[in-house]
Amino acid sequence: MNNKKQEKIFIKTFGCQMNEYDSLKIMQLLHPEYLPADSENDADIILVNTCSIREKPENKVYSQIGTYKKIKEEKPEVIIGVCGCVAQQEKKKIFSRHPYIDFVIGPQGIYDLPDIIKKLKKGWSNICHAPQKSDFEIPTLLGPHLEEKPLKAFITIMQGCNNFCSYCIVPFVRGREISRPFEDIVKEAKHLLSQGIIDITLIGQNVNSYCGKQDDGSINFSALLRAIYGLEGLKRLRFTTSHPKDLSDDIIDCFRDIPNLCPHLHLPIQSGSDNILKKMNRKYTREHYLSIIKKLRDARPDISLTTDIIVGFPGETEEDFELTIDMLKIVKFEQLFAFKYSKRPFTLASRFEDTLREEVKSDRLNILIAIQQEIGKMKYKELVGKKIEVLVEGKSKAGENELCARTTANQIVNFNGNPELIGNLVEVTIEKAFYHSLRGSLENSELIR
Ligand code: 5AD
Ligand code: SF4
Repeated sequence: MNNKKQEKIFIKTFGCQMNEYDSLKIMQLLHPEYLPADSENDADIILVNTCSIREKPENKVYSQIGTYKKIKEEKPEVIIGVCGCVAQQEKKKIFSRHPYIDFVIGPQGIYDLPDIIKKLKKGWSNICHAPQKSDFEIPTLLGPHLEEKPLKAFITIMQGCNNFCSYCIVPFVRGREISRPFEDIVKEAKHLLSQGIIDITLIGQNVNSYCGKQDDGSINFSALLRAIYGLEGLKRLRFTTSHPKDLSDDIIDCFRDIPNLCPHLHLPIQSGSDNILKKMNRKYTREHYLSIIKKLRDARPDISLTTDIIVGFPGETEEDFELTIDMLKIVKFEQLFAFKYSKRPFTLASRFEDTLREEVKSDRLNILIAIQQEIGKMKYKELVGKKIEVLVEGKSKAGENELCARTTANQIVNFNGNPELIGNLVEVTIEKAFYHSLRGSLENSELIR
């Protein structure tokens, strides 16, 4: 009988979907030697997957790492590491601030983790592995999906960014754009579908500029969408994040032509003022942004649009801010992610004079949030009485036979139904709109797929 204790890993993930994807890949890479732990206290390896896009998440990361000092004092054999963007940004500096950290690995370094763990077990300490190669290829791992009944998955199709928006640290920590070969993406998609996944999101910092290799040449993003939407078992296809300057007509046409491409697009606008957009190096104007929105709504009238906005960028005047409010009111986004500008290392904007007081930034943020809340409420109310397609994701905590589902735009819909519907697409009639969810009914509805 093998009495060796099963070792476990706990990954605390901060930030974006790219990090969620990387955490899952790490789990698969170490499986079955390490299984997922329920908490930090029950883990043999603790890994913090970090985000440094804004100051606030970065600070959260540091306080999280700080809480692990006690675990290391009590159980010195536990291996503690840091990966992701803060790791790439700070490298060895993390050891001087937190000497109990055993290793630091950058986003490209995660695939060498088994080797790093071996070295740590042999007595090595403070290993820093943060390569940034321009010819790096994401390995295609086809391990088991570790959730019990997985329905949704991400596939990274490209990494890094060439855009250098003046406020953004990403090109410095994630490096230049590298697209994954087309065949690898298809292989991974087919593998996920064979495991029961039905909803796939293609992810990358700027997926619209995907340019992958295939046997007979290169393939752009719209061609990638057209090549994979028909894969057997794929019920919902999505992608994120897009850049308005790269959202070309051929991509917009996909919303018209591809039936299982979800009518939802996250299209960060960042500001409604041309003056600020120029300082941000975004390479589009508000007029161009509005022309894309029109084309998108012509191609897919039910498309739901979400966006990101930064308030308080250096030099943002009251007039610039009014133009941002104006954009919110014109476009009427379904959802808004608004952030106060924060200075990031290495970026061009970190050298701009940031004269706006914190108080002004907070006021502007609150104003945007309040305006968006009204728009959001109105958008939710517009859905009442409509029949919409939802993916039944699981049971809801609300009671027996209460199910929880999602619309193509990721809105939550609760309704009463048979748990056997879980994993299926059904049509529900929306009866009531709440603040962050909808109430639906299955009456007169059909099972779609
Ligand atoms: N300050 C505030 N927000 C930022 N973002 C990126 N960099 C910064 C920064 N320095 C926001 C942008 C981006 C989102 C992911 O984070 O809105 O779209
Ligand atoms: Fe950052 Fe701009 Fe690249 Fe997005 S497009 S990751 S905001 S540099």
